[in-house]
Amino acid sequence: MNKAAQVPVVFIGVGNVGRTLLRQILDVRSAMAGKTGLLLSPVGVADTSGILYNADGLTDRQLQAILRTRFRGNKVGSLPGAQRKRVLDDVLDDGVLLVDLTATEESMPILELGLKHRCGIVLANKKPVAAKWEIAKSFFDSPIIRYEATVGAGLPVISTLKYLRETGDRVTAIEGCLSGTLGYLCAEIERGSAYSAAVRDAKSLGYTEPDPRDDLSGQDVARKALILARTAGWQLEPSAIDVEPMYPESLSGIGVEEFMNSIPRLDSVYEAENKQAQSKEQVLRYIARVTPKGGKVGLTAMPRDSAWGALRGSGNYIAFHTARYDAIPLVVSGPGAGAEVTAAGVLGDIIQLAEYFRVKYEKRG
Ligand SMILES: NC(=O)c1ccc[n+]([C@@H]2O[C@H](COP(=O)([O-])OP(=O)(O)OC[C@H]3O[C@@H](n4cnc5c(N)ncnc54)[C@H](OP(=O)(O)O)[C@@H]3O)[C@@H](O)[C@H]2O)c1
Repeated sequence: MNKAAQVPVVFIGVGNVGRTLLRQILDVRSAMAGKTGLLLSPVGVADTSGILYNADGLTDRQLQAILRTRFRGNKVGSLPGAQRKRVLDDVLDDGVLLVDLTATEESMPILELGLKHRCGIVLANKKPVAAKWEIAKSFFDSPIIRYEATVGAGLPVISTLKYLRETGDRVTAIEGCLSGTLGYLCAEIERGSAYSAAVRDAKSLGYTEPDPRDDLSGQDVARKALILARTAGWQLEPSAIDVEPMYPESLSGIGVEEFMNSIPRLDSVYEAENKQAQSKEQVLRYIARVTPKGGKVGLTAMPRDSAWGALRGSGNYIAFHTARYDAIPLVVSGPGAGAEVTAAGVLGDIIQLAEYFRVKYEKRG
């Protein structure tokens, strides 16, 4: 049998999703090489401390060492042979797959450099695709950029939307429950939990960011709504999405502990909203809605006996209203968070880009 062609992949970020993805790649790559003739070959893995790089591909031993080191809470920079990240600038080459698994704008310069060198780019990080249009536009409508995991984790949300456009359908509106964390909160409030208890539980279960306001602000949902809008072809600015946070402005400028101590005073507000919804056979859900003109994300009362009302846990629900799917929208629904499903969404993008660049890899041997 011919030797499989190497697919060089560089990972920026090796947190929850990054670690899981490396393990998934170790699990599937030899079977995939046997089937497709393409061997996924991590050549670089970076976190904030540095990068472990080997142009011929990191060995399984090196990859296992990264996983062990990160699992113990140590950084890549502490491993033998690790280098400063500057080396990244030299490794970006035509056909290298650059995978952004951070949650920061700081990766923008390296992504832009990757684009210049015709690297394939895979994003789990929403920030580059949800930046101001002037900055983000280079990430859209390019066959060598994929960002499936930015909305709905591993669910086929972006690919479904692209399929609708490619087949000539006209998308008129997109609605969705796009946050597992806020979904959990809504379901808890619906069950009769106090808002403050639901936030505290979500925080201690690790469902929220260390500062729960990062989720409660609605900004993460607004970014996802913007990514959907832009994928639909609507070149909206972040300011076109109206965001209703799940806490008042007055609790913005304080520390996390003070915030957590202050929120019991919001319990009566959400209790009243929940009671009002229940009196009309409705439930509260944190919903995003976008059209070509703009969007809105916020708490909305929805019929209890609808698919929205049936959502539980990290369940996401995305409805595409189009010229063809007019009376009943096309729906994608399922778990929209979690390292395993998110990593699988990223892996799917990597595999597609590897196929895209196949001829290049085969020529290099
Ligand atoms: N978890 C989910 O369910 C889910 C679902 C959908 C999408 N996502 C997205 O997937 C991404 C990763 O999520 P996660 O849960 O894995 O996050 P995480 O655990 O916080 O990991 C982030 C990683 O990025 C690294 N990083 C941050 N800034 C960096 C920089 N400037 N250069 C190099 N590395 C940098 C961090 O390095 P250090 O460890 O050195 O700080 C860390 O390894 C996020 O954008 C998230 O929104 C996650």
